[in-house]
Amino acid sequence: MNKTPDTILIIDFGSQYTQLIARRVRECKVFSIVKSNNITINEIKNIKPRGIILTGGPESLTGNKKLKITKDIFNLNIPILGICYGMQLIADYFHGKVSASTKKEFGHSVFQHKGSSKIFSSGNFKKKFDVWMSHSDNVTRLPKGFKCIGSSTNSKISAFSQEKDKIYGLQFHPEVTHTEQGMTIIENFVIKICQCSKAWTTKNIIEDAISSTKKTIKKDNVLLALSGGVDSTVVAALLNKAIGKQLKCMFINTGLLRKNEINEVKINIIKKLKINLITINAEKIFLNKLKNIIDPEKKRKIIGETFIRVFEKESKKYKNIQYLAQGTIYPDVIESSSDSKSSAVIKSHHNVGGLPKKFNFMLIEPIRKLFKDEVRNIGKALSIPKPLIERHPFPGPGLAVRIIGEVTKEKISILQEVDYIFIEEIKNAGYYNKISQALSVFLPIKSVGVMGDQRKYNYVVAIRAVKTTDFMTANVSEIPYDILNKISTRIVNEVPKIARVVYDITSKPPGTIEWE
Ligand code: XMP
Repeated sequence: MNKTPDTILIIDFGSQYTQLIARRVRECKVFSIVKSNNITINEIKNIKPRGIILTGGPESLTGNKKLKITKDIFNLNIPILGICYGMQLIADYFHGKVSASTKKEFGHSVFQHKGSSKIFSSGNFKKKFDVWMSHSDNVTRLPKGFKCIGSSTNSKISAFSQEKDKIYGLQFHPEVTHTEQGMTIIENFVIKICQCSKAWTTKNIIEDAISSTKKTIKKDNVLLALSGGVDSTVVAALLNKAIGKQLKCMFINTGLLRKNEINEVKINIIKKLKINLITINAEKIFLNKLKNIIDPEKKRKIIGETFIRVFEKESKKYKNIQYLAQGTIYPDVIESSSDSKSSAVIKSHHNVGGLPKKFNFMLIEPIRKLFKDEVRNIGKALSIPKPLIERHPFPGPGLAVRIIGEVTKEKISILQEVDYIFIEEIKNAGYYNKISQALSVFLPIKSVGVMGDQRKYNYVVAIRAVKTTDFMTANVSEIPYDILNKISTRIVNEVPKIARVVYDITSKPPGTIEWE
């Protein structure tokens, strides 16, 4: 792959689907990058995109507050696709009209393609198809020089194009699976219209990561913060290939891990991947720092900072460590980005947002540009054992963000036991791989129960299981009732301090996956 792969730039106006658009482009084997709408024209020129996608967003061009992007993007002579709000922006720039519609469209609608357009061209492209809409404004007058290429149930101008300059607008969301032929539309834009080459493949990503790591690191040594999860294990395997013995993997026992985690990491890293591992027990340090802390964001910052400080101290025992490697992935970068005017910072993931401003290493993050499914594919290609690749994600701050309120050793041990039973039972029932993430949460309340004719007054835990592809939105997993029943019975019987188990049935949004 050449140094800068063909790139589609996605300019975010706060759509809940922005990451999904970026992933769909990558499914076309083309690199995509997400930037906030406050990006400057010079920054755009530096990226050298082959095409730009303007996303949807919650704002309205008919209201007072409207996000814009410099009109200069239309002078770059590259294809532009506007989706939903992005389409309305294009209409506004080229003197079309956007009006608040009386008939809003949310969810399913039917789209009818008219005339001919490159964006809808493919051998057996259906003219009438189901689409997913989410808008209350409409384009009511075509922008100058554009033609209407389709209508939907409630809007006459649901798609337009200016074929000569390769500018397209779609009112519906092609990135969402509910839109029929959505992937074909995205592929038409990315491959046929922007003429990107399909170079973003697992093989190329691995080769690129290895060669650029070698070039950056040279003869220096790298310390990897290994967590035992998919991301840092893939980084370990990549760096092991790139720099071999210059890599030192360090596993910090924060005391906030799952039951048996340390042994599992040792088996996977040392025995299966044959990578040397240094383990450090920093349990006391973390627990001391977390004393009396109840605010989730403070917990994250403290854990992030403590991590780095422990690494700094331990690394001094090894000569010539110049780099710290981390398994940061692209959604962490996007979700923690505070420069975005459009989307709020929901949580500062400690890999990124929680980093202290000053520390003594240079950072190396070989999978920073990748989505989780891409990381997993790399893991498979690097022969990382399947159960490890399929592991549910576990947050960097660990059980600290699954214990509501102050973190204590007692609460950690209780939660470890609960979590162990929960995971064991969903594995026994063959449900583990049908769930994207399963977790247990310790609640700082007590409840009355009765066991063996005795009154019990003890803690409550919540169990949660979600299904998601991108962890940005998630649905509750429908675990059959008999499995839930077994889990609850085992937890209350086997974990003495637990009196009650509740099942969390909140989707994301409005809930987040973790409780803190
Ligand atoms: P939320 O709770 O934001 O979680 O819906 C989305 C995904 O991110 C994980 N998560 C974290 N990962 N540091 C991490 O490394 C964090 O601070 C953090 N908070 C949430 C969460 O487990 C889920 O997979």
